[in-house]
Amino acid sequence: MKHNALVVANWKLNPIGFDEAKNLLTELKKKLKKVNSTTIVVTPPFLFISDFSKSLKGGEIKLGAQDVFYEEIGPFTGEISAGQLVGFGVSHVIVGHSERRALGETDEQVNKKIQAIIKRRMTPIVCIGEKNRDEQGTFFNDIEAQIKGLAKGLLAKDIVKVVIAYEPIWAIGTGKTATVEDVKEMQLFIVSTLTKLYDRKTAEKVTLLYGGSVKASIAKELYEQGGMSGFLVGGASLNANEFSGIVNATIS
Ligand code: 13P
Repeated sequence: MKHNALVVANWKLNPIGFDEAKNLLTELKKKLKKVNSTTIVVTPPFLFISDFSKSLKGGEIKLGAQDVFYEEIGPFTGEISAGQLVGFGVSHVIVGHSERRALGETDEQVNKKIQAIIKRRMTPIVCIGEKNRDEQGTFFNDIEAQIKGLAKGLLAKDIVKVVIAYEPIWAIGTGKTATVEDVKEMQLFIVSTLTKLYDRKTAEKVTLLYGGSVKASIAKELYEQGGMSGFLVGGASLNANEFSGIVNATIS
């Protein structure tokens, strides 16, 4: 089942300063008009969310965050809650990115974050992906474990609100985009894993994205044949032409 397309810009720790961020957003807003069939989300660094929330109000582009903490309030130095994000109009939150997992984020924390995001009626975008691929396909076990971890305790009515982004770590920032065949195979695997945990109908309602060196030049083929409903874009989202090219690839 194909869902409405979703394309998410993960700016990570970019750009260098606020002026550059505002300029990039202005360019994106100019280029991305009248694309109502595709949902577009920009996730800037936390510091820019307050300003972006005003400049994106009522427009085509939605505001997202790159992470969140799972507690709502209290002695948690340096953290930001789902309640605080929703107060600034944030609609989507990335969790479990491999760059955060590398800093120690666990499946259990990812699961708690998902629940906190859903409670605040935002959409969690949960990243999964293997470090390396092996001939025997044992990496599918890691993917299955990540899916089980993120889904733990979530009822069918909750899992359908989750977006799962398949981001193989070997493809992130390396220029080595996964092939259409790899992406299609993983889409089928994720749906079959979710079917085992829930049922087929529920599994097919979960929106799936691909991320990892997505470029405008290959986005159409990946979108049309990879079976995913859109993209989570890192590097290419910092270039307005590239990013709008990727968004346009999802518009039929
Ligand atoms: P790149 O598009 O730079 O490979 O990054 C992908 C990513 O990590 C998005 O979350």
